Amino acid sequence: MDLKSEIIPEKLPKHIAIIMDGNGRWAKQHGKPRVFGHRNGVKAVRETTEAAAELGVSYLTLYAFSTENWKRPKLEVGALMRLLVETLHKEINTLNKNNIKLQAIGDISLLPKETHSALLKGIENTKNNTRMTLILALNYSGKWDIAQATKQLAKQVQEGVISPEDIDEERLAQSLSTSKIPDPELLIRTSGERRISNFLLWQLAYSELYFSPVFWPDFRKDQFYQAIIDYQNRERRFGKISEQLV
Ligand code: FPP
Repeated sequence: MDLKSEIIPEKLPKHIAIIMDGNGRWAKQHGKPRVFGHRNGVKAVRETTEAAAELGVSYLTLYAFSTENWKRPKLEVGALMRLLVETLHKEINTLNKNNIKLQAIGDISLLPKETHSALLKGIENTKNNTRMTLILALNYSGKWDIAQATKQLAKQVQEGVISPEDIDEERLAQSLSTSKIPDPELLIRTSGERRISNFLLWQLAYSELYFSPVFWPDFRKDQFYQAIIDYQNRERRFGKISEQLV
């Protein structure tokens, strides 16, 4: 049975977020260094991006490097940063051909200069694309995002632009790095781990969580379709009861 044809277009999530996990374990399974796993992870990034765009998903967010990932061995961090530069250079044309806009969330100013400038170049070169937005979370964490939003609001209070009473959920959401992006309806994590790992903490409040046992380098279109089909079979109640849902 063709999985893609089981997807109900009317019930497609607008925004899918993914924790790409398992590159290191995949490499170990193949008797190779961890970086080999990350390199093969790029294939999965390409396939998933293509599948999302083909289906008509509007936003795809990939957790590519967390604020905690700096604690990894220097060699691995360096290799990941170089891989990002290489991939960005290689894939920008494909993004443009497919009308995909690249964006980033996270404190990207702290990335190595080369990675930072490759990213800014990619964002600039694809800014007019309209089919789908691919968001890379880089030097990102959910706690960082909430803290930076809080800082912005505190400054606005200090400057007399707003009063503390003006701070509500809406205003906080508007100060997050995702202010222009709807919350993800679906979060996918690969590799069998069942954690949020400091990803989009605020934005995932009502997301459906899907855990795939597959290591990220083995994640392909069919696994992506399977996650969406699973999501489409769930009842999203948002605090209501079944009978209240239309
Ligand atoms: C998690 O696997 C993966 C990462 C921290 C990095 C993801 C990066 C890529 C897929 C490559 C480039 C990405 C883009 C967007 C071009 P892990 O290392 O935590 O695996 P483990 O849990 O098995 O050790």
